[in-house]
Amino acid sequence: MRNPRAFLRPLAVGAPKPSSDVPFRPSRMIHFFDPSNEKMAAKVPDIAKKVDIILGNLEDAVKTEKKEAARQGLVDIAKATDFGDTQLWTRVNSLDSPWVLDDLITLVTEIGDKLDVIMVPKVEGAQDIHYVDRLLAQLEARAGLDRQILVHAILETAEGVANVEEIAAASPRMQGISLGPADLAASRRMKTTRVGGGHPGYIVRQDPTGEDLTVGRTTYQQDLWHYTIARMVDACAMNDILPFYGPFGDIKDVVACEDQFRNAFLLGCVGAWSLHPVQIDIAKKVFSPSAEDVAHAKRVVEAMGDGSGAVMIDGKMEDDASCKQCLVMLDLAKSLAE
Ligand code: GLV
Ligand code: MG
Repeated sequence: MRNPRAFLRPLAVGAPKPSSDVPFRPSRMIHFFDPSNEKMAAKVPDIAKKVDIILGNLEDAVKTEKKEAARQGLVDIAKATDFGDTQLWTRVNSLDSPWVLDDLITLVTEIGDKLDVIMVPKVEGAQDIHYVDRLLAQLEARAGLDRQILVHAILETAEGVANVEEIAAASPRMQGISLGPADLAASRRMKTTRVGGGHPGYIVRQDPTGEDLTVGRTTYQQDLWHYTIARMVDACAMNDILPFYGPFGDIKDVVACEDQFRNAFLLGCVGAWSLHPVQIDIAKKVFSPSAEDVAHAKRVVEAMGDGSGAVMIDGKMEDDASCKQCLVMLDLAKSLAE
């Protein structure tokens, strides 16, 4: 049986060296397509060559009357396409929907040998993962599969966020978790109307410098998702699974998309969703360490020798802890280059 954690790279939290010998698979973007959309589906073989992960979406954004066509479309595409090193994922319908049982039965039976990961939306607690885990085990046995399909949870309800630690630890099948900002905003009754990203009203303002409080006070937009991403990253790091930022719906705003992806990368995420080809390159750029970061990390690691003690580089103190951060960066850069 394939090692179920074969997608995982240890995040090396607290460890000077990566400890895993399982193969690394780049996971910088999860590229969504609608298998019921024939035009989109026709482009899948080409797009699959450009992305780390391609995902056939069966849930939200697929119209109710297209649910069955999307499921069948994904089966047909998967059978007809050689995905090479690219991972094939699907997002099934939510566990309270009338479609999910057929999604799981059909996909595992028909294309279980090609499916790497099943993304489960609106996960609220460990019980949701246990249910999918048991069902997958039965279906894999019935289909005679000699590999385990992994599970990825979307964190997109208030209850899910409250239970994120138990979700991350719920099964050895857990591959990772994505933040779903759109559903989460609705679940929390946030007063936004967007799919991910910031909001011009969510700001901090500079203190006044004069009597007139309305004059010349710079505002800074804040990250609406900081708390949730940080919590999700901790839960994932604790369980050696991978955290992702989810969708950024304003396709034209490539600047804000890059900012949102970079905030997530800096906080520990390994990738984000791409909803349009223009977001593929943004994710590739953001979630691969920059040449400057790699060069700096090499300098620190070399100067630190056995990784203990402290050195001064460009006027800054570096020690065991910053050396560990540099090793995380170098490990990721090396893995992506292989
Ligand atoms: C993704 O599914 C989201 O709700 O943001
Ligand atoms: Mg959602």
